[in-house]
Amino acid sequence: MNFLKGEKHMGKAKKVVLAYSGGVDTSVCIPYLKKEYGVEHVIAFAADLGQGDELDEIKKKAISAGASQSIIGNLVKPFIEDFAFPAIRSNALYQGRYPLSTALARPLIAKKLVEIAKELNADGVAHGCTGKGNDQVRFDVTIGALAPDLQLLTPAREWGMSREETIAYGEKYGIVPPVSKKNPYSIDLNLLGRSIEAGPLEDPFEMPLDEVFGITSSIADSPNEPEIVDILFENGYPVAIDGELMEPVSLIKKANSLAGKHGFGRLDIIEDRVVGIKSREIYETPGLLLLIKAHQEIESLTLPADLLDTKSRLERQWADLVYKGFWFSPLKEALDGFINYSQKQVNGTVRVRLFKGNADVIGRKSKENSLYISDMSTYGSEDKFNHKSAEGFIYVWGLPSRIWSWINK
Ligand code: ARG
Repeated sequence: MNFLKGEKHMGKAKKVVLAYSGGVDTSVCIPYLKKEYGVEHVIAFAADLGQGDELDEIKKKAISAGASQSIIGNLVKPFIEDFAFPAIRSNALYQGRYPLSTALARPLIAKKLVEIAKELNADGVAHGCTGKGNDQVRFDVTIGALAPDLQLLTPAREWGMSREETIAYGEKYGIVPPVSKKNPYSIDLNLLGRSIEAGPLEDPFEMPLDEVFGITSSIADSPNEPEIVDILFENGYPVAIDGELMEPVSLIKKANSLAGKHGFGRLDIIEDRVVGIKSREIYETPGLLLLIKAHQEIESLTLPADLLDTKSRLERQWADLVYKGFWFSPLKEALDGFINYSQKQVNGTVRVRLFKGNADVIGRKSKENSLYISDMSTYGSEDKFNHKSAEGFIYVWGLPSRIWSWINK
């Protein structure tokens, strides 16, 4: 029950699984854990989330930095199926804007770390997050939720070294610093998108340069003809684009390339981190944003107003929980119950026009579940609405207003 005291590495872990990315910070964590924390075996775990890294290189890098074992886990399928797709059903947007591309990856990596630690009989897990970001929160909270007694080692939060000092420390252990093409940005990348911060972006009034972007076209470079795409949903899940049924991973890739080509899915926002800091972040999340937008639309056709209203409030809370590290929590699970129940009738097609940075909904239909009844909505002669009954309804509906006004005149 060490965790109750909130103190760390009291147990002096000997075998630790480290979340490894191949970058300088996580590489330096390897000798640092051994030297300063007395860890005997560091097992590096790198997750493939569709970021397109050279994973074989990363695997070798960990060993040459002193890891006893280097594991690569292909998490693309669970990432999309178990994390991205529920986020689409939840229309999840932190602070109403950020579609959680980075945030969704962390609980999955943390879960995998814990699983590997259990399999290999490790007594601790570690990550290389600093003390200013959200990712440390997500890792720590998730690991705590899944394995409250596992030791958690967070060297980069404690070592107090500057970037230069970190590089110098690494060089002592043969860790080669990145061939400095002078990339001033800090970038997180996975199949759901790119998050870019730091460098010139730290001035929030400074326009992001073209060099910032990697998976979306600029407006100038995007096609001069619009492209119309049909997205089919079944039970709230996107299942086909332009009539072609696709597995979740292929569908996300297709949505990314379509939306990205037309320059849709760029965000430039000031967001509120869990640790109280406001940060300026650029996101490119073309496919995820497109699918959320289309999903919202098919819901508006197939769900009643009161359900939409309540769901939109709970969605906000869902996104907030995920952003703040509570993917594995009783409240999130309870909200999932609500959201899952709400999606049975969310079936149909949304038509979107992609053009010059926009994705505009231009049509929607649902054979089985549309609540739009043209004989009710029409202004034409097929009108089935009973106009007379509106009078009695409004008499009752407006009664409080009339009474108030009459009493207080
Ligand atoms: N602010 C975002 C989040 O908390 C993304 C941070 C990603 N890291 C980066 N180096 N850009 O989910």
